Amino acid sequence: MKVLVIGSGGREHALVRAIAMSKKADKVYCCPGNAGIAELAECIDIAPDDFESIINLVKYEWIDVTVVGPEAPLAKGIADAFEKEGLKITGPLKKAAQLEASKVFAKEFMKRHGIPTAEYRTFTSPIHAEEHVRLKGAPVVIKADGLAAGKGVIVAVDVKEAMDAIDLIMKKKAFGSAGDRVIIEECLVGEEASFMAFTDGTTILPMVSSQDHKRVYDGDKGPNTGGMGAYSPAPIVTTELENVIMETIIEPTVRGLKKEGIKYKGFLYAGLMISDGKPYVLEYNCRFGDPETQPVLMRLDSDFMDILLAIEEEKLDRIEIKWKKNASVCVVLASEGYPGDYEKGKEISGLDSFKSDDDVYVFHSGTSFGDSGNVTSSGGRVMGVTALGESVREARDKVYEVINNIRFDGMYYRKDIAHRAL
Ligand code: AMP
Ligand code: GLY
Repeated sequence: MKVLVIGSGGREHALVRAIAMSKKADKVYCCPGNAGIAELAECIDIAPDDFESIINLVKYEWIDVTVVGPEAPLAKGIADAFEKEGLKITGPLKKAAQLEASKVFAKEFMKRHGIPTAEYRTFTSPIHAEEHVRLKGAPVVIKADGLAAGKGVIVAVDVKEAMDAIDLIMKKKAFGSAGDRVIIEECLVGEEASFMAFTDGTTILPMVSSQDHKRVYDGDKGPNTGGMGAYSPAPIVTTELENVIMETIIEPTVRGLKKEGIKYKGFLYAGLMISDGKPYVLEYNCRFGDPETQPVLMRLDSDFMDILLAIEEEKLDRIEIKWKKNASVCVVLASEGYPGDYEKGKEISGLDSFKSDDDVYVFHSGTSFGDSGNVTSSGGRVMGVTALGESVREARDKVYEVINNIRFDGMYYRKDIAHRAL
């Protein structure tokens, strides 16, 4: 079979690798991919939102199935465009992707279906939003309604910070029309966890649990990023809690969508806050998490293509997914300055000094080939070194050992990934 993956990050590298490992995949393509993905797939420089070119490629190359990594093409309706052409794609339709693309939609949906989440109010006017903050005080969380590349959520510790957030999102329009509406919600206290599941719209199969580190600096300090590292399993998600998450969050979500006439096929991600032992939804993503996918898929012990095809054919009830007992850890190597401004085009050395194998793998995020053909940095998150181990500690030690070999100008990474699980 021929398979196409859409996207260019570490998550997509992990997807491509899992697909390439399957005997069912004869050839893998990636649009646009990166320097690491290019070792496993044919990378074609088409932007993820250029549906017409992607569909032409799929038809021309007789690609059997397409998998989508990032949220933007899903929110823009790539699955709808494929469906219209009778082409196979693993990913939710535009209506279902609203769960991630509109926080107002997601909150109202959760309210309708009794899914636990923080108390909230929606505002379209900055004056009313400010009034609400004055009345309620802080801490409080301000969220732009639409997609804002992970920057649209501000946890304000005092009233001034909350007012600044309203100003930034609603008045200055820092995220454009994504800030036409804001959610102001109760600040939950607890520990976060990421919970991902496969679903064909009816059957749901959970993935192993994971946890990412959103803040840029050690000790979970500094601004939020796309994620500086992740590990699996997350000890806070016990079997008992996993059952509660499935029963009170994941199952009601898929059932609720179905009841509303929205079939959700693909990967569903719930960002959770575990507060006093109970899970609350902070956000939904309609895709795999990045970097959670890297450690989670390292633990997959089943054929990934079987899962993708079962989702597509709505036969997920016919398969069983096996996971390795090992733990896994991924540490992101970033460009100094990320998530703010950073320099690109830095040559990366040391990648040949060790061998990626089943236990250790370097997933590329923002990398490309420089003029001399060498691998260079081309993004804020550059690569994610990932390892399996008997324990989280063993996996983490392996990761940091490999990192010692890798160098590029301005390379920055957190030294405390997985500290909660040691
Ligand atoms: P989101 O994109 O909605 O997941 O928000 C990004 C990050 O902001 C989350 O990972 C949390 O760290 C934080 N956050 C979001 N909502 C809340 C909340 N209601 N209470 C506390 N922290 C929150
Ligand atoms: N790591 C969080 C996300 O993928 O949204």
